[in-house]
Formats: sequence, structure tokens, C-alpha cells
Amino acid sequence: MTAGRTTHNRTGDVSGEARRRRTFAVISHPDAGKSTLTEALAVHAKVIAAAGAVHGKAGRHGVTSDWMEMERARGISITSAALQFAYGDTVINLVDTPGHADFSEDTYRVLSAVDSAVMLLDAAKGLEPQTLKLFDVCRYRGIPVVTFVNKWDRPGRDALALCDELAERIGLAAMPVTWPVGPAGHLRGVLDVDRGDLIRYSPSAGGDAAPELRVDQAQAEGELGREWIRAREELDLLQASGGEFDVARFTAATATPVLFGAAVRGFGVRRLLDLLVDVAPGPAPRRDVEDRVRPLDAPFSAFVFKVQTGMDPAHRDQVAFARVCSGVFERGMVVTNATTRRPFATKYAQQIFGQERSTVDTAYPGDVVGLVNATALRVGDTLYTDKPPVRFPGLPSFAPAHFAVARPADLSRAKQFRKGVEQLGAEGVVQVLRSDRRGGAAPVLAAVGPMQFEVAAHRMEHEFTSPVRLEHLSYRAVRRLADPAQRPLVDAGRRSEVLTRLDGTDLALFGEEMDVRLLQRAHPELVLEPLLAEGG
Ligand code: G4P
Repeated sequence: MTAGRTTHNRTGDVSGEARRRRTFAVISHPDAGKSTLTEALAVHAKVIAAAGAVHGKAGRHGVTSDWMEMERARGISITSAALQFAYGDTVINLVDTPGHADFSEDTYRVLSAVDSAVMLLDAAKGLEPQTLKLFDVCRYRGIPVVTFVNKWDRPGRDALALCDELAERIGLAAMPVTWPVGPAGHLRGVLDVDRGDLIRYSPSAGGDAAPELRVDQAQAEGELGREWIRAREELDLLQASGGEFDVARFTAATATPVLFGAAVRGFGVRRLLDLLVDVAPGPAPRRDVEDRVRPLDAPFSAFVFKVQTGMDPAHRDQVAFARVCSGVFERGMVVTNATTRRPFATKYAQQIFGQERSTVDTAYPGDVVGLVNATALRVGDTLYTDKPPVRFPGLPSFAPAHFAVARPADLSRAKQFRKGVEQLGAEGVVQVLRSDRRGGAAPVLAAVGPMQFEVAAHRMEHEFTSPVRLEHLSYRAVRRLADPAQRPLVDAGRRSEVLTRLDGTDLALFGEEMDVRLLQRAHPELVLEPLLAEGG
């Protein structure tokens, strides 16, 4: 799993190393098969010997620390970050997007660390809510998306209907790279659009890196008859209406290459890897806060996109995950934190994914490094060595979906309470909202996922010695209030109010979407904007 890490020295060809990297995340709804696909991708690259190592299911290897045991007991996966493996000459960095019980603002933020995304759909379900939320973030950041329709070995929806759904619901034209032969549940193989031949599906091939069985067009038609002809016709139909593959439309994020497969059988996975190698963008130079470009071969720079604090105070095991933006990272180097201007020694640099940890010695643009014991680092921090100093834009805040009033459980700890809440807000653990109406003593905490409240409550108790009581609010719709002068219109509502976030954004909260519509109807002059993300 350390492929490509250790054999290069400081003067290595940084641009060349960057060019051969593909850093992406899989975005999906729970149960679509993200773990299975991750495993299949890694297995295919022949990194993980036994299927299942990533999943961490029963009977697999891997040393499990107490800390991780605890995470599991709490149903939280707080160690996953990025899996790195070599695929031919390419170094693949697969960044994890936490997505089950631990869906949170972090899930969105990790997308700031990737250059492309694989949108994984269940053939029977198509676009699902969590996939849509993550897709919105990709769209906001302009991240190109490849679509992989999974579970084609089981009954599911019609391939054309799934492609229509992409166009209609998210405005992405589907550009098939493979096309299924045989309906979902009766998969015979996929037609490789580029080569025109058939990649045969064999259910007995198992979930390992079975070789692709290719059959030329004439033989495929002879063997499969109507099913082959039908697949060709469907494909022609789609291509005639704008579905011709075009790399430029993919990188501009206006169209998505689509592949069909069955991750559990490893089917379609190789084609996916090849596509990522061929067309997915590698790391590009980033712009700093002053809109200057930091070239890939400038001295080392990186930004922290995720910080995980051990839930066990005895360990205080904080890991900061940083994506390398320029230059070469070498373990042990002393870097400067652009926020505090303080030096930080990177003695403990690790690559962490699931239960596996390995030491990182060298990393290049596109790679993710886990800095252990990085208690001084915060989400959004920039790290750099040598001149010129650089600071990348901070990470944006996303539309919260959960709200709770926080109060100190012990009134004698009011000072610690205030300090803790400020700190957690500044770190982006939760968003902190206030209003004159509610007063300063009872801020409203807002989060994308409820686990953020758990983390905040835990840290308030153990780190800031001020346990909190949370009283959940039943707001389900949120907008940005464009004009502060219109605040009274929202505050007058029975199930709505305006709260101001630490970054100054006015959030209008409503009981239901219906309340937004009713208020807008009564006051057409009221400007309420959809809220996905700001800043960053
Ligand atoms: P997630 O990480 O996205 O939540 O999904 P995960 O990989 O855990 O997969 C969810 C379920 O879907 C698993 O079944 C998995 O085996 C199954 N699955 C994934 N890919 C495919 C596929 O291509 N075809 C079929 N038929 N099933 C697929 P499970 O019963 O929940 O767990 P398991 O005990 O089988 O692992």
C-alpha cells in the first residue's frame, strides 16, 4: 500500500509524480456498494491479497487498537481517510467519504481534497438522497464525476431510464463508456463503447481480479443475438442525443462517463480504473487566498481537510489529514502552519485507511498524509516549507440540517462553556449560530450530520470541562437571508427565525419547506437564497 512513496528523493520530478496521480472519492448513498467497490478497486490493483481487508469484516487480518474498538462500539468510523495503491504506472489515491452514521460536514469537506469523483449508483435505485447531496458539492467545486452503475447482476432499472434520470435530475448528460448487454439481473456482459467489443460477464469469476474476457463484435452478435442488437440500438439512441464520449465535457463537469458493472464480482472495475487513468484529471496547481497560483513544483505546501480527535481522552490521538498541493513531503520535515505561523514537525506521518496504518516517507501533489498528534492543526490550515509562504482558502461551511440549543449543564462553568463553543465553531466541528433574540448564553449549534453534536458534546465535557445540555430544534429547511433588513419578516413567523453564523452569514431557519413557500408568497420582496456552501 506504500507504492510510489518511498523510492523517490527530494529532487524527484514533482510534476511527473503529480501527473501520474489520480485522487478521487466515491460518492454514494449507504448500501450502494462503496466498500465493495473500494475493495474491488484495490484488489484489482492487486494490493489487497484477500477480498475483505478494507471492509474489516469477520475473520480478516489487521491489528485493532482499543481506540478503533471504541469507534466501532460507537458506530463511528473515524480513522478512514485515504487508500493509496499503484495501478500500472499510476498512483491512485482513493479518499474516503464517511457516509453512514457518521455523515457530517467532514463528508463534504473531503471533497475539497479530490480531483474527481466516482458517483456510485445502485442499479435498482438510481440517484438517492445522499448521493444527490454529495453531487451538489461536486458541482459547487466543479469536480468532474464518473458514474458507475452497480449491482447489474441483480434485477434493477432500465439502463436508458437511469441515464435519463441523470440528465433530468442533475443536468448531466450520460456518455456511456460501457453499455450493459442483457437487462439488470441477466447480465451477459458489457459492450465496450470505445472498442465495440463485448466484455463477457461470468458470475463464477468471483470478486477477485479476474482477467477481462473480451469477445469481438461478430462473435458477440452470433452468441447473444437479440440482446446484443438491443444493446447496440439503445446505445445508438443515446449517442444520437448527445451521449458521445467527450473528455472536455467530462472535465468541464457538464457530462458524465457512465459504466455498468457488479462490484461484488469485480466486474466493470478494471474498465473504471482504466478510464480514471486515461481521462480523470491529475492534481492541478491551486490558487491561494490572493488568487495566485502555487505551481505543483513550488516548495512543499498542503492543506488540512479533516481532523480527527480520538474519542478517548487517555489517547488524545489527533490526526490531521492534509492533501499535498505542491512540492515533496518528506517525513520529519518541519513545516509552517500558515494560520499560526508556528513550525510543526512531521515526525509522525501516516497513511491511514480503515484499520490499516503505514508510515509515509515521501508524498507528492495529490497524496494524502495523516499527521498524528497534530493537536495544533485545524481544518482549513495551510502547511508550507520554504518561501514564498502560502495560504490556501479556508474550507467552506455547508448547509446545516440539524439544530440544537446548547446550554452549560453546570452554570459555574459558563466561562469554559463560552470558550469551548467558540473554539468548536472556529474549528468547524459544528456551526455556531446566535441571535439577539436568543441571547448569547444559549447559542444554537448547527450540523450537517447528528454525529457532529456527539463530537462537540464529548469535547465540551472532556476538553473544555463544561458538559452541555442540547435541546434539539425541529427546523428542516434553511436559506440564506440576503438582506439583514428583511430579518423581521422571518422572525415574525411562528416556525421560523434568523440566526447569524460566526462567519457573519444570516441563516433563515424554517420548520418545513412549506413554511418557506408560504412566507415567500406573503412577501414576494423577501430574498432567500439556497444554501450549499460559502467561503472556501
Ligand atoms: P456501502 O459501503 O455503500 O454501504 O455498501 P457495501 O459495499 O457494504 O454493500 C452493500 C451491500 O450490497 C452488501 O451486501 C454488498 O455485498 C452488496 N453489493 C455490493 N456490490 C454489489 C454488486 O455488484 N452486486 C450485488 N448483488 N450486491 C452487491 P450485504 O448483504 O449488506 O453485505 P455482505 O454480507 O454481502 O457483505
